[in-house]
Amino acid sequence: MQILHTIADLRAALPVPQACAFVPTMGNLHEGHLSLVRQAKAHGLPVVASIFVNRLQFAPHEDFDRYPRTLARDAELLQSAGCDIVFAPDEKELYPQPQTFKVVPDAAVADILEGHFRPGFFTGVCTVVMKLFSVVRPKVAVFGKKDYQQLMVIRRMAEQFALPLTIEAGETCRAESGLALSSRNGYLSDAQKAKATELAAALSALADASKSAGADLTALEQQAVASLNGMGWAVDYLTVRRRADLLAPQAGDTALVALGAAKLGNTRLIDNLEF
Ligand code: PAF
Repeated sequence: MQILHTIADLRAALPVPQACAFVPTMGNLHEGHLSLVRQAKAHGLPVVASIFVNRLQFAPHEDFDRYPRTLARDAELLQSAGCDIVFAPDEKELYPQPQTFKVVPDAAVADILEGHFRPGFFTGVCTVVMKLFSVVRPKVAVFGKKDYQQLMVIRRMAEQFALPLTIEAGETCRAESGLALSSRNGYLSDAQKAKATELAAALSALADASKSAGADLTALEQQAVASLNGMGWAVDYLTVRRRADLLAPQAGDTALVALGAAKLGNTRLIDNLEF
């Protein structure tokens, strides 16, 4: 496995476009990322994983500075998962000048849910992903369903710009407790990790309750929020949406997803459940 830090070295290693499968990450990897690498590997192409903590997608009060940078450990894990190239540029390499050209996604998909609580987040994500696509030129890129809205926004971006690649979704990996694996779980104490399973449980209960005929979704969502807040969380949202566009379901819609974001202590977690 090669570890490359510059665009020039990456281009030299992959001179032909659409010759690799790509897994973009911010590092501090866990089994969820590795499952995306193994999924990418199944395409029979060299797999590139990028590691870049993207300042543009963090608000000033968020955890950009303390986000763990664990390149040596990440590289070992990626090698064990069959990754061929790690692309780990520093900020000067990816943003040699301030990145003043940005990809601003459609507000209808990017200013709701996560985008409502983290204004500008998806502009930061789309900008870096577009730049990484332009550097790596993958045939396939794999994104986890754990970041459900991110996956949808990137799919839309790829469609609207007619990008010559396929966006593939990877399933969320969970601990036995049901907790969705996330780099930010590392901020939790053991006691908080045990409690963090309440978010997945709340989504599962909300999904189940929503399936009853004539269910009042707004009331169910409000109850779910009140219940999780009552357990000591600070909930941003717990909601049922259509998978296709993340809008509120209409009568007869069946492909749904329950999505949630909530803070446990200082750590904000997100999760979702398709049903
Ligand atoms: O999901 C992530 O880790 C990041 O948002 C991504 C896609 C690597 C862009 O920085």
